[in-house]
Amino acid sequence: MFLSNPPPENPVLQGETLSKGSLAHVAVLGLGYVGLPIARAASGAGLRVTGIDPSPNARARADDRAISVQPRAPAGDAPDVWIIAVPTPLDSRGRPDLSAVQSALATVATGLRPGALVLLISTCQPGATRALCAPALTSSGLRIGQDVFLAASPERENPGQSGFGLTDTPRLVGALDADSLARAVRFWERLGVPTVAVASAEIAECAKLLENTYRLVNIALMGELQPAFAAFGVSTRAVVEAAATKPFGFAPFWPGLGAGGHCIPVDPAYLQREACGVGEPSSLIAAALRANRGRPGRVVARLKESLGGSVAGRRIMVAGVTYKADVADLRGAAAVTLLRQLKRRGACVAWHDPVLGEVPVALAGIPRATMFDRHPDGELEALVLGTPHSAYALSELGDAAPLVVDPFGLLPTREGTRRVVHA
Ligand SMILES: NC(=O)c1ccc[n+]([C@@H]2O[C@H](COP(=O)([O-])OP(=O)(O)OC[C@H]3O[C@@H](n4cnc5c(N)ncnc54)[C@H](O)[C@@H]3O)[C@@H](O)[C@H]2O)c1
Repeated sequence: MFLSNPPPENPVLQGETLSKGSLAHVAVLGLGYVGLPIARAASGAGLRVTGIDPSPNARARADDRAISVQPRAPAGDAPDVWIIAVPTPLDSRGRPDLSAVQSALATVATGLRPGALVLLISTCQPGATRALCAPALTSSGLRIGQDVFLAASPERENPGQSGFGLTDTPRLVGALDADSLARAVRFWERLGVPTVAVASAEIAECAKLLENTYRLVNIALMGELQPAFAAFGVSTRAVVEAAATKPFGFAPFWPGLGAGGHCIPVDPAYLQREACGVGEPSSLIAAALRANRGRPGRVVARLKESLGGSVAGRRIMVAGVTYKADVADLRGAAAVTLLRQLKRRGACVAWHDPVLGEVPVALAGIPRATMFDRHPDGELEALVLGTPHSAYALSELGDAAPLVVDPFGLLPTREGTRRVVHA
């Protein structure tokens, strides 16, 4: 598929050049949420796959007969395709941390042979393919688009959402030259992944960041409107459902405790940093990042007010702690922030989660409950819905404590001895 702004040359017309590029051996750097499914798909497509990951846990998860896993690049067995799917988090000061990408590029550069294709899958800032990847790969004198090939092809997966896997979601592909673009498109086609070729690597990079910035801004907006609508005595979800009947110009977003995970609260910071770098910061992105970070604090404030002005010493349960429903991942989880804030304010807090296996380090020192309506220290006084896992029966949650605080607006509000408030 091509967009209105087509790539410089149609890659489909370049079959002859392409036939020279082998795809037989694929190296995937980073065997996490993103890299492992790509490695498995490449193996399923009949390609030989080497998975490279410094983490023994990641290697153990990936280790089967389909993929050969190792901590370093394969010596003397140069791959035809290199996939970079390493983390791109924020550092402790909220700035983009590209150290894993830099280290992966150094690995690729040492094993890169003429004819190889490198795909940057990790979410990076605009210009990363051109300014970060290309120089790292050409330091030995290889030329991009002639000797070796490079394209940006960011991941768009949405964990936990079925129907949007590797082969269901069109893959953006943007490159610095037509040959690289053609080879990248051919690689994805071999895996059965539909592609959208765009005119430059920067368009692919910016599109990825725009997608998640759009989501963050709208999620932050719903997080701010939920308490306002609640104060009007109106259900936010009913409002969104009503607005969503408009057949154009409105995409529904739902209230919650705040966006977590490794993408939605992170990617806009990558875009903002580059926008600041060119003297064009977005006040809206800044506000959305701030509102998202502040969302658990607003819920704590509502809980405090509902408990008569203090949470200190009160037995409070947070039901569901992962960053999204039915996904066993705590990275950036707003419920963890909420738990820590409650603990800091002296609450006698506990958590329950039907999805998490072992107690994660992030929650060490905060007791886990075996049932969401049984506090380990005595009678439950308040419950906050932290993550609405599908294992929870909403009607039961509403009856779990004298006060139930629902940042998602899923439970009907109620007054009386079993109060339910939207926060
Ligand atoms: N998980 C998602 O749903 C998702 C969606 C879209 C985009 N992304 C992006 O995809 C990229 C990867 O994310 P993820 O969720 O798979 O991360 P992850 O943390 O699950 O996995 C990354 C893996 O890379 C490994 N790694 C770190 N440095 C390495 C190196 N130098 N060489 C080889 N391996 C290395 C880590 O040990 C880890 O196993 C990130 O840029 C992320 O923003 C993720």
